[in-house]
Amino acid sequence: MEYDVAFVGLGYVGLSTAVCFADRGINVLGVDIDSKKINRIKNADSPIHERYMNELLEKAIKKNRLSLSRKVADVTKAKIIFLTVGTPSRKNGSIDLKYIEQASKDIAIAIKDIEEYFVIVIKSTVVPGTALKIIDNLEKHSRKKNSIHFGVIVNPEFLQEGSAINDTLRPDKIVVGVNSEKDKKIIYKLFKKIYRKNLPIVYTTPSNAELIKYANNSLLATKISFMNYISRIAERIPDGDVNEIKYAIGMDKRISESFLNAGLGFGGSCFPKDVKALIAFSKELGVNSEILQSVLAINDTQFMSVFNILNKELGQLERKRISILGLAFKPETDDIRDATSIKIIKRLLDKKAKVRVYDPIANNNMKRIFGSSITYAKDSESCIRNSDCCIIVTEWKEFKMLKPKDFIRLMKRPLIIDGRRIFSKKQFNKLEYHAIGLG
Ligand code: UDX
Repeated sequence: MEYDVAFVGLGYVGLSTAVCFADRGINVLGVDIDSKKINRIKNADSPIHERYMNELLEKAIKKNRLSLSRKVADVTKAKIIFLTVGTPSRKNGSIDLKYIEQASKDIAIAIKDIEEYFVIVIKSTVVPGTALKIIDNLEKHSRKKNSIHFGVIVNPEFLQEGSAINDTLRPDKIVVGVNSEKDKKIIYKLFKKIYRKNLPIVYTTPSNAELIKYANNSLLATKISFMNYISRIAERIPDGDVNEIKYAIGMDKRISESFLNAGLGFGGSCFPKDVKALIAFSKELGVNSEILQSVLAINDTQFMSVFNILNKELGQLERKRISILGLAFKPETDDIRDATSIKIIKRLLDKKAKVRVYDPIANNNMKRIFGSSITYAKDSESCIRNSDCCIIVTEWKEFKMLKPKDFIRLMKRPLIIDGRRIFSKKQFNKLEYHAIGLG
């Protein structure tokens, strides 16, 4: 075999995992049907913005550990094939399996006449029962038998954008949904080379592995919406402060302090999509999802806290200059998928406000949505200059460098809405400082 492992789909998960595997000395083949993407990767020019990505990519290409192809049929040159294609949302929230179905059909046709035993690893996020469908699809198109000629494993991904490389190399857990001892041995051998001594593998069935991914993300989203709900209560109490609540309850080991930050709601490519998909899947099973429906409802309306404050402080927003610091759905990424900034800008434009925005790396992505209807600043100082209000939407480190005197000096009116609690009220007591979850 020419390669140890192949990846079908070089999006966030596929590419991050591929370069990390290559870094551990594994010979990797990356397949994607997008030729532009393939060309960029070949030139060690990462299509995604991720810390350490360019270095690892360059190293992998130079050392010949990562080869690229546009043809799924090439996966037969590897014995372990990871499926890392997207599973986008349909209108009703359920996931669309068309890419994974197409990829598995292409793999089946490719392996049809080859004697070798292949292991197909589903890394894409899929609802329980999908692996069984993929097995049917593979058997149908390859005329081979599961467990005899090939095996299927479910290995969901838990990496976070912004820390994808680190999360991939040092995961909290590695979930392996597997039914056969043979496949277990094959994947263990590979994972031992990659994760070395840190090998927190949880073996389970494929369907449980599929559900683990949804339960994991939905519980994290629930923690966030729960804290946003508490923040709404704290905001209505004169000396209420959601951060004090967070600190104290986070000390309870059963709760833990992570993912308890109240803010303007969660965004990104995973949480909103995965919560919706679990709701849609539960419905098929006749299970009510009141809890997750509330998680989404809170998230959808959380940004309105900003408008409650604007309404009180500025009244009519027509021609008011509003500056927005942070556009990405979270820091350390230029990803604006489902970002709260979009909802806020849309509403500000509806109210005829003048909007100026700044993000260290996501300005260009936002231009594709709002074009010339808003203005884009080249740094935070020029963004807040002469504005009537500044809203902090993403907690980039560089915004924390701004001092109260900068806001006073630069803004027309030093009115600040801290949507991510990056400043302290004490430090900003000379300004009109408002924050999520602060009474
Ligand atoms: C998430 C999961 O964490 C990851 O395990 C999975 O593989 C993909 O989805 P990601 O989308 O990269 O990762 O971002 P994450 O860091 O989880 O943040 C998601 C959203 O929640 C962001 O908008 C963030 O601002 C928000 N968030 C996070 C909060 O509002 N409060 C918190 O305490 C934590």
